Amino acid sequence: MRKMMTSVAAMTAAIALAAGAASAGQEDNLVVNEEIEIVVRTDAPAHMENVDTIYSGWTFRSDETQALQMDDFDNPGMIFVDMGREVFDAAAGSEGKSCASCHESPENLKGVKAVYPKWNDQAEEVYTIEMQINECRTDRMGAEKLKYNGGDMTNLVALLASVSRGMPVNVAIDGPAQSTWEWGKELYYSRTGQLELSCANCHEDNYDNMIRADHLSQGQINGFPAYRLKNAKLNTVHDRFKGCVRDTRAETYAPASPEFVALELYLSSRGNGLSVEGPSVRN
Ligand code: HEC
Ligand code: HEC
Repeated sequence: MRKMMTSVAAMTAAIALAAGAASAGQEDNLVVNEEIEIVVRTDAPAHMENVDTIYSGWTFRSDETQALQMDDFDNPGMIFVDMGREVFDAAAGSEGKSCASCHESPENLKGVKAVYPKWNDQAEEVYTIEMQINECRTDRMGAEKLKYNGGDMTNLVALLASVSRGMPVNVAIDGPAQSTWEWGKELYYSRTGQLELSCANCHEDNYDNMIRADHLSQGQINGFPAYRLKNAKLNTVHDRFKGCVRDTRAETYAPASPEFVALELYLSSRGNGLSVEGPSVRN
């Protein structure tokens, strides 16, 4: 309780937090194309001590923003999925192969996005889906790595998310992945920056409150990559982390850094049970 009061005091001083905001849209359900049912609220996974129910970020958005995600013709993120299909089919590298040469269609990779980040036995580290894609490029196609948070990579990730929509996020946090998960958890609860705020101070202690003009969500990542109306492009998970860390006026880690990989595993696990819904639409 003491900890929470301190954080709220720090936040009210620094960034004007208004408590007790209305829960706009929090009761709504999401069905995409009148076909794909998305779980936007469910019981929190057992490892979460301070939260009973987890909510997709979609439930905190305005009716107008929510509507954009209900039909693929209205979802501006779907253009990037189509561009991802072109990358999937394009040959690259010394072997003259495309992703399709081996995987045939993206639909064959249905379900994969739901379980990443995931421990990789050969590399003996936790892989994000971007790391796995780049390994296919370098080791199997004889091609250069794609830029980790660049357009082609993000479009491929959006494509792989889109074919898994509706499936429950289900990342493993035990076994060899456990130490990475624990590191991610530590980062989530660490206060950083001049404002001395942790991710938890906003997204656990204060979700559903207003911070400036924003209705604070639980900071879930089941909707990534996310199309943001604010910058009119697809945003990667790591770029979102970077933005939030910067808002605490802290030095931030780089996209693809081991810290952000660990944080991604931990945050994914806080969404275990919500549906994959990328590409989502957010403000
Ligand atoms: C030469 C064949 C080949 C090419 C080309 C290739 N891959 Fe793979 N890919 C594999 C193999 C083999 C695996 C490992 C399968 C496994 O571990 O079950 C794999 C694994 C993956 C996985 C993880 C699957 C899982 O269940 O964890 C993803 C995602 C993936 N590839 C995406 C891509 C993408 C995107 C491209 C194009 C940039 C690509 N691959 C190109 C052969 C290929
Ligand atoms: C000062 C408060 C604050 C802190 C601290 C903060 N965030 Fe955020 N974050 C926001 C706001 C405001 C938004 C936009 C509204 C929303 O979705 O909550 C946001 C959005 C997000 C989203 C997008 C959610 C979605 O559904 O699109 C993610 C993911 C996220 N934050 C992760 C983090 C992580 C990880 C940390 C810690 C490194 C963090 N945030 C720290 C304020 C904060």
